[in-house]
Amino acid sequence: MDAQALENEAQSAISSASTLAELDEARVRYLGRKSELKQALREVRDAETGSVLNGLRERLEAGIAEREADLGEAALGQRLAQERVDVTLPGEAVPRGHLHLITQIRREVEDVFLGLGYRVVDGDEVEDTWHLFDALNMPPGHVTRSPLHTLFLNGDIVLRTETSPSQIRVMEAQQPPVYMVSLGRTYRRDTIDATHHATFHQVEGLAVDEKITLADLKGTLLHLARALFGEDREVRFMTDFFPFTEPSLGAAVSCFLCEGAGCAVCKHTGWIEMGGSGVVDPNVLRNVGYDPEQVSGFAFGLGLERIAMLRHGVPDIRMFWDNDLRFLRQF
Ligand code: DAH
Repeated sequence: MDAQALENEAQSAISSASTLAELDEARVRYLGRKSELKQALREVRDAETGSVLNGLRERLEAGIAEREADLGEAALGQRLAQERVDVTLPGEAVPRGHLHLITQIRREVEDVFLGLGYRVVDGDEVEDTWHLFDALNMPPGHVTRSPLHTLFLNGDIVLRTETSPSQIRVMEAQQPPVYMVSLGRTYRRDTIDATHHATFHQVEGLAVDEKITLADLKGTLLHLARALFGEDREVRFMTDFFPFTEPSLGAAVSCFLCEGAGCAVCKHTGWIEMGGSGVVDPNVLRNVGYDPEQVSGFAFGLGLERIAMLRHGVPDIRMFWDNDLRFLRQF
């Protein structure tokens, strides 16, 4: 066997292998069990031939290892080039929503009253009948106390039908003067239709101080109406009845669509109902331990859905709950 010729042939096969598979073929051919070299090694009889052939085997093994490393590196380089990502490219945008229209209006109303120095107070959606009925001067037989109107949870525990009990809780907890608003969800056992929902939102307002009069109420609601519906609005009162106010007044705002001329939104009256209000009944003040001879107050309650529907021409209150993004995205 010509060791030099074999080495030249093997090394050239190794260095010309262009893939790991080709290199493996070369390994089998020159170093495999049936290779010329391995057979020659098996038949070695003298130390000198043995060391020549072993030297050859070691050089071929080293050549294969080196070529294997080179090919591996080249393959890795190729993969890296193929799989390269440009980390400076802009990512996929995550769609970002926005606040629900009712939440926007809630915050807007809060801002109006914070600007007037009022405190924004959290009320409880789950109330007891003292705060929802008795303290608000509702007599035992009052129609809202019926389980046909109010959702009773357990005994005298109820879901509030209005935000008014937040007035009572604030007055029970502090002495006058009080200037507070409380906004949140209310629940009624109502049949749902285009203008009624069993769950809706109100803003409750209360001011109790020395020498508070109806004029203060009117100025405050006028300020709110102008903030919500435009600087040219006017406010008017009509008599109404609520157990917790005396006198009780329905407040209306001049129509912002027809400027008072009469249109479908104001039902051709030029005025749009905003909500209930009045001078706090002395009984309510007494119920919380205030002295009606010392202080007086006004209160009001408005529906937030109603504000939203009027301002944006939303025809059906149920749309606020449908979760239809085509509707919600408009605001
Ligand atoms: N709670 C009344 C309602 O839900 C609205 C209301 C009227 C609130 C007069 C008041 C008020 O604070 O003084 O219809």
